[in-house]
Amino acid sequence: MHHPVNIGIIGGGLMGREMASAFARWCALLDVPAQPVLTAVADLNPRALDWFERVPSAKLLTHDHQELLASPDVDVVYVAVPHQLHEELYLDVLTAGKDLLAEKPFGIDLKAARSIAAAAAESGRFVRCSSEFPFYPGAQRAYQVAQSGTLGRILEVVSAFHHSSDLDPTKPANWKRQSKTCGEIGVLGDLGMHVCHLPLRLGWKPQSVYAQLQRGYPERPNPLDGGMLVCDTWDNALLHTWVHLDTQPDEVPMRLEMKRLAPGETDTWFLEILGTEGGVRFSTKEPKTLWLFERDSGTGEQFWKKTDLGFQTPFKTVTGGIFEPGFPDVIQQMWAAYLSERAGKLADHFGCATPGEAVASQEIFAAALESQKNRVVAMVG
Ligand SMILES: NC(=O)c1ccc[n+]([C@@H]2O[C@H](COP(=O)([O-])OP(=O)(O)OC[C@H]3O[C@@H](n4cnc5c(N)ncnc54)[C@H](O)[C@@H]3O)[C@@H](O)[C@H]2O)c1
Repeated sequence: MHHPVNIGIIGGGLMGREMASAFARWCALLDVPAQPVLTAVADLNPRALDWFERVPSAKLLTHDHQELLASPDVDVVYVAVPHQLHEELYLDVLTAGKDLLAEKPFGIDLKAARSIAAAAAESGRFVRCSSEFPFYPGAQRAYQVAQSGTLGRILEVVSAFHHSSDLDPTKPANWKRQSKTCGEIGVLGDLGMHVCHLPLRLGWKPQSVYAQLQRGYPERPNPLDGGMLVCDTWDNALLHTWVHLDTQPDEVPMRLEMKRLAPGETDTWFLEILGTEGGVRFSTKEPKTLWLFERDSGTGEQFWKKTDLGFQTPFKTVTGGIFEPGFPDVIQQMWAAYLSERAGKLADHFGCATPGEAVASQEIFAAALESQKNRVVAMVG
């Protein structure tokens, strides 16, 4: 029997709507102890609120997030607003005594992330940060393979997220293209948590970073007046890091890539881990496929094996095992993990990104900014 959990959403834009649709088809999930019920939405934009009229359970639609937080019909709050508002709104949620699924990057900068994490710990509320890509079956398997110790000496790691969202110079500016709303970290804050989550969960926090950050178009059309708006955020980031692994004496090079200007890509998340005895590769370009490297120690032959995992999601669903998982599925899987862990029933499932992991990702981004500014290798944390 699923236990109902009342959810409020602050910020009913791209991600607020995505979450509402994940709740609406919760019947797909077979073994999750909780049933999310969207009861309230707060957004400053009346047109954003209008969309939620189609969700019958969302009885409170308001422009005032404090009205949502005062509602006794809200247990958990998901907040998806521009980055300069994260700290204030997340702290408001905690002060109201509600649990929180925060959005990345968990504050506009490292200082904000640390302040949110401290408030979360002090409040005793259940707080996690949104990061859904590790819930792909292929990403889960890559994580298990990396943990298994069968890869031999790890030689290198690449964790990456490539968009081409900014290739079109006529695309209008929005809050993600300006430092005052997206943060000085730019694309690091936009895509970085996705790239850092699995390495951090494996205990692979970089010790040092050399960053190559690139800007995109310096101005874009202003959607409000037809003029041009200055766009000052970093669009592409290559972070060359060194990671110390407990299992081997020497450091390992790990490259973290985040790009808004990646020709040929729409939304490609990938992870590759190569060792002397084995390797693993997963990309959302082939969403049901896993690549495994093996070396035959007898003959010396090397193989890349390819297998289609299908719909082997961490939380079982009604969807047939042969089918392909996609973005809406992993969003729903992430919520299943959040609500299961909140209920103390995560068992051996993979849990959502923790406040500690969000802060660790911001420590990497802060070091990357320092590296870029001074053209040096910067220490992390
Ligand atoms: N997990 C993911 O895959 C993913 C993808 C995209 C964005 N995000 C994150 O989600 C968050 C939101 O991004 P988005 O793409 O949904 O943005 P968006 O611009 O589409 O939506 C933001 C919404 O917040 C509303 N808003 C602004 N100030 C508000 C306030 N004070 N009170 C209530 N509502 C307010 C806006 O009116 C807008 O509707 C960001 O933190 C972003 O990094 C996560």
